[in-house]
Amino acid sequence: MMEHINRVVVVGTGAVGSSYAFALLNQGIADELVLVDLHKEKAEGDAMDLNHGLAFAPSSTKIWNGEYADCKTADIVVITAGANQQPGETRLDLVVKNTSIFRDIIYSVMESGFDGIFIVATNPVDILTYMTWEFSGLPVHRVIGSGTILDTARLRYQLGEYFQIDSRNIHAYIMGEHGDSEVPIWSQARVGGCSILERIQRFPNQYHTEELEDLFIQVRDAAYHIIDRKGATHYGIAMGLVRLTKAILHNENAVLTISSYLRNQYGQDDVYVGVPAVVNRSGVREVIELNLNEEEMKKFEASTLLLKGTLAPVLK
Ligand code: NAI
Ligand code: 2OP
Repeated sequence: MMEHINRVVVVGTGAVGSSYAFALLNQGIADELVLVDLHKEKAEGDAMDLNHGLAFAPSSTKIWNGEYADCKTADIVVITAGANQQPGETRLDLVVKNTSIFRDIIYSVMESGFDGIFIVATNPVDILTYMTWEFSGLPVHRVIGSGTILDTARLRYQLGEYFQIDSRNIHAYIMGEHGDSEVPIWSQARVGGCSILERIQRFPNQYHTEELEDLFIQVRDAAYHIIDRKGATHYGIAMGLVRLTKAILHNENAVLTISSYLRNQYGQDDVYVGVPAVVNRSGVREVIELNLNEEEMKKFEASTLLLKGTLAPVLK
């Protein structure tokens, strides 16, 4: 039997898309990587540049600047196209502009005969993931948004610094909108197998529960601070998208906080929102329902309601 050749297509090779392509190449995850952008020369330049790194890559990847027709046999199409936030703008402010861009992109991808998995990163990501599902007609488990994968990584970094423990040994999630209404799930956060709330109680001279709120604010507002300094964020999300790509292509059953469609989980329905979920070759295998406390549940509900309220007018 012939071995399957994995193909990933990236639509939008701006700051996020080209950083993703670079990270993907460096981890040797895809056999074929196709770059598509409205600005064809940009995609062409990126393909040339990345090909010049092949001699140093862990495995061979065929890279070219392509067309929507290349999506036909793609396993994954990653969408990172569209406007990003200007200083002071929220992610939700981008909704009208990016929905209209998405209508054309999803139509072109589906016209190719694409029958794989979409990963969406463009903001507002939860809304645009819903639109991708709506426009594509694919089953919900094959349309995935990056959701709070980056916010969760930011939280793990902050907690790692606070407790002086490798962030890879910290299990803590941000759920809800990838944006200002997101929610830290402290009740389920663990470090080295121990609840972080218990750890704080055990070392009252070193740690204080009130400081968790400051850590969360750093996480929630991180993008604003980075955009003020350099105009865009792209490395963190690029690595998060590669993690998600790997979980799919390697059939990992990995637990990642992604934007997933809810059908009564957490009491919510018909919304794409950041939740922990099991990801494998089929897409989202299962949404994990954590035991949220009352306050977390209320904040999560408020976040999903905000998303639904933003989605309703663009769905018309
Ligand atoms: P950018 O402006 O650097 O790149 C956007 C690219 O999209 C450009 O190359 C542009 O030519 C292309 N494009 C625009 N319309 C297109 C179309 N119709 N078809 C194909 N390509 C098209 O923007 P950047 O910084 O890369 O951000 C991209 C998106 O990613 C933004 O919406 C940003 O907010 C979002 N983002 C999401 C994150 C997340 O955690 N989900 C993190 C960081 C950024
Ligand atoms: C981020 O959180 C801007 O959504 C982007 O970095």
